[in-house]
Amino acid sequence: MSDARMEYYENSENIRPESMDRIETREQADAFIADQVEKLRAQIGDGKVLLALSGGVDSSVVAALLIKADGKQLTCIHVNHGLMRKGESQMVIDVFQKQLGANLIYVDATDRFLDLLAGVSDPEQKRKIIGGEFIKVFDEEAAKIEGVGFLGQGTIYPDILESKDGIKAHHNVGGLPEDVKLELVEPLKLLFKDEVRVVGAALGLPDTMVNRQPFPGPGLGVRCTGAITRDRLEALRESDAILREEFAKHGLDKKVWQYFTVVPDMKATGVKNGKRAFEWVCIIRAVNTKDAMSASIERIDWELLEHISYRITHEVNGINRCLYDVTAKPTGTIEFE
Ligand code: XMP
Repeated sequence: MSDARMEYYENSENIRPESMDRIETREQADAFIADQVEKLRAQIGDGKVLLALSGGVDSSVVAALLIKADGKQLTCIHVNHGLMRKGESQMVIDVFQKQLGANLIYVDATDRFLDLLAGVSDPEQKRKIIGGEFIKVFDEEAAKIEGVGFLGQGTIYPDILESKDGIKAHHNVGGLPEDVKLELVEPLKLLFKDEVRVVGAALGLPDTMVNRQPFPGPGLGVRCTGAITRDRLEALRESDAILREEFAKHGLDKKVWQYFTVVPDMKATGVKNGKRAFEWVCIIRAVNTKDAMSASIERIDWELLEHISYRITHEVNGINRCLYDVTAKPTGTIEFE
């Protein structure tokens, strides 16, 4: 670890004081918000802030806090890499641009990402391409804005702890502070995830955003296994939307930690409308975990599972079969790639 990075972690500002109460109530969240708004104003002055807004909980809460401090000084950039879930980019636009009046630059970079990913089947190579292109697109947009002095980030306390322990070079702190010229603005860096959600709700963000399940940076890219094709990606997005709709309808969205579909690069024989149909297989995965290091499967009700399978195989073009993944982690990871 470089000296600069060591210094960053050992800086007392990045260590949660033992006296700090866990934020659980609306009153505590309001107090945190008032305090942070004051701190943000003091740090930023009349400077300009840039923020990559993914639609995830952390960056959304940072955006809402910065808007409360002074929305005019903030520019949010939402890069749609074409690997978002159904309706997700639209929700970012609706909430931040339409409801909160944020300066939001929306970049639909779908073609750029999918063209680069065409024919690439190695998972790590796919991740590298998606991560690298994301930074490129963000930098290109950022370069168009003059006089930016600050970069907002959704770093939360576990990111700092895990990077410090060498568990993972988290993307939020992994590239810091050596290669960032902008001053960082990280109002959530001492909070745990559950606290971020309480703060997000107090800021008025919609429940679907605040209680969003984890979603990997490379998005649906690691669930459309092997070389991504547009038609299979579309089938994946539609099947995932059906699963999410049914889980929400049956209250499982509040109970299950992470759930999604996977459409591997594999076809199976089936029958549709009285004819042989050689189509993709859709895998449903639903897991529970505390820290994502190990996970158990959700023992989903058979009747609901059959209903979801029926809907996916009858409503989604190109899928004729559904499987339920009954593998715990280990040996399976949560994601397929
Ligand atoms: P695995 O598959 O390693 O996943 O059991 C553990 C948790 O991490 C998420 N995950 C990722 N998140 N970028 C991310 O931001 C990634 O490349 C990535 N891979 C896995 C996964 O969704 C799960 O919550």
